[in-house]
Amino acid sequence: MIFISNEIESLSRNFLDNPFGDKKDKRIENWLEILNRLPLLNEVQVDLKNEVSIDFKSQNIDELEEVLLQLLPWRKGPFRLNKINIDSEWDSRKKWERFKELGIDLNGKSILDVGSGNGYYAFRMIGDGADQVLCLEPNLMHVSQFACINHFVGSKKIRMIPERLENSGISDTNFDLIFSMGLLYHQRNPEQHLIELKSVLEIQGKMIIETIICPDKFGMAIEPIEGRYASMPNVHFVHSDLGCKEIFEKLGLEVVAETKPVYTDVEEQRKTKWMPFKSFESALDATDKNLTIEGYPAPTRKFYILRKVS
Ligand SMILES: C[S@@+](CC[C@H](N)C(=O)[O-])C[C@H]1O[C@@H](n2cnc3c(N)ncnc32)[C@H](O)[C@@H]1O
Repeated sequence: MIFISNEIESLSRNFLDNPFGDKKDKRIENWLEILNRLPLLNEVQVDLKNEVSIDFKSQNIDELEEVLLQLLPWRKGPFRLNKINIDSEWDSRKKWERFKELGIDLNGKSILDVGSGNGYYAFRMIGDGADQVLCLEPNLMHVSQFACINHFVGSKKIRMIPERLENSGISDTNFDLIFSMGLLYHQRNPEQHLIELKSVLEIQGKMIIETIICPDKFGMAIEPIEGRYASMPNVHFVHSDLGCKEIFEKLGLEVVAETKPVYTDVEEQRKTKWMPFKSFESALDATDKNLTIEGYPAPTRKFYILRKVS
């Protein structure tokens, strides 16, 4: 199957030369200046299979590190560039390992990664044999980091469009796999989000939903007051497992595999040199680690693999 459909080709064309396209943001000028300062490397060796690492003939490493630090905060990673370890806030390897336990074959697949962040997982998907990955990410800070890392990786198999799914304009292309990780709880209308994902999924395709869940005793979902949950803003719903499954069934999506819920901890999400602001350590109640600082159950995360049944 040809993945770069005419539709995707034309939607992403603007971003090949300038990752921000015609977006308006006062930080863009600075990011473009930083991206223009990235060196061309010699004898580059890229590994996307076991980690995201770029080895190259050593040059001024300290200077390169200074440039990379200007793209703070690095939320997803790690990325290793020679001796520089971009030790991001999230150790995203842990989520990727949990996904890999489900044994989904990525070989030759065309993939949509919605809310891709800086593309950490997209790089891992290519490392695991995916043919092409289209990333949608409206946060331009993440887009700047993707452009930076892909300057060194040089993958033509990943494209990133700086848009939300609902504004992306994709309607004709069908993907073999669609990832929505860490998004459902941020949606004002989670059902609509799933409907939109389903509409661009191949008939035999699989949807990979990773989300935070709460215990079933809370009913379908918790609706955090003022959208604040575990110190995060814009968390509109934290569904229970029961609540998720009820929505999936209603929308004609069958759960074909799932992981056990796993508690987030400070090994997986924490403050680092590359993300020096508040992190997970201030998300939980200091006296009861089973509760968030707002008094809700502490976050546990879970993967669901879904297929269309209607
Ligand atoms: C919590 S982060 C998760 C990032 C990554 N998928 C992961 O699992 O680590 C959610 C990301 O989704 C993006 N996002 C939120 N709503 C979105 C939407 N409707 N369409 C596309 N991206 C969205 C945000 O900008 C943010 O980068």
